[in-house]
Amino acid sequence: MNRATAERRSPRTAPAERVRRRLAAQAGEAVAREMPSGYQRMGRVLLLRLPATLRPYYPLLGEAWRAELGIATVLVRAGPVEGELRRPSVEIVAGTETETQVVEHGVVYRFDAARILFAQGNRAERQRAGRLVQPGETVVDLFAGIGYFAVPAARTGPATRVLAVEKNPASFAYLLANARANGVADRIDARLGDNREVSLPPGEADRVFLGYLPSSVPWVERAVSLVRAAGGWLHVHAVADARTARAHAEAAVAATLDRLGAERLAPLRSREVKPYGPGRTHVVVDARIRAGSVR
Ligand SMILES: C[S@@+](CC[C@H](N)C(=O)[O-])C[C@H]1O[C@@H](n2cnc3c(N)ncnc32)[C@H](O)[C@@H]1O
Repeated sequence: MNRATAERRSPRTAPAERVRRRLAAQAGEAVAREMPSGYQRMGRVLLLRLPATLRPYYPLLGEAWRAELGIATVLVRAGPVEGELRRPSVEIVAGTETETQVVEHGVVYRFDAARILFAQGNRAERQRAGRLVQPGETVVDLFAGIGYFAVPAARTGPATRVLAVEKNPASFAYLLANARANGVADRIDARLGDNREVSLPPGEADRVFLGYLPSSVPWVERAVSLVRAAGGWLHVHAVADARTARAHAEAAVAATLDRLGAERLAPLRSREVKPYGPGRTHVVVDARIRAGSVR
């Protein structure tokens, strides 16, 4: 084995560097320098962001990543996440199987990585969702997806009942599958449809998750109507300018609560979830409230 091959195979060398060396051997150092070192591994599927200049090398890169990580499929992001249903736009560059499974903090998430967004940066927030929930709570997730928050709420909390609304049929099918896979199907009441139209019981929720970006503030009114008369929590997600994101999101939630006449039972609190593009931050505002004149 020559030195270059030995180095490429060394377990101490990061996988991205080993792939970069394979590319350099085939296409030259100048091309290889364009390869980003970042990647998102979702079980046996890998998602890459590559510059268009590397397009001629996608097949080579796909096979190189597959070999280095021992995974099934390599996807390349082809465009922005699309529309209200947050569909990713991806191209398959190696392999065929896009269904995968990720295990986080004991929670199993199954999904089709080519059709469904699984935001790596929300990992801590998914875990927090489970920890926030107190045993016996009734929880509503207005944007349930594949069960990002609903499954940890039912499993870790554990909530007695999670009403989980999801509009995208593909995500909804995985929401049902994940409820079963995590042994909480009896506690997750999944509803397929638009949360503006799906019938939900007013005044029964201890907690409502509003995990929609760029902003779930327009859904605060609906969420307030779902909270118990004694009070409950809203977790309102939004994206804002990174310099003022938390203050901006808190002000938006406060203004909406004030307009609705909802009472704040504790000062609003917020936290940064992840960077969200250049100069933007994804934040979540926790609001303990009681409905006022909104009822
Ligand atoms: C991308 S997920 C949220 C991400 C998630 N919180 C995480 O941890 O990664 C948002 C979900 O809301 C769903 N959705 C968007 N608008 C909706 C609506 N009006 N009613 C019900 N579901 C909706 C989308 O289909 C999507 O599955």
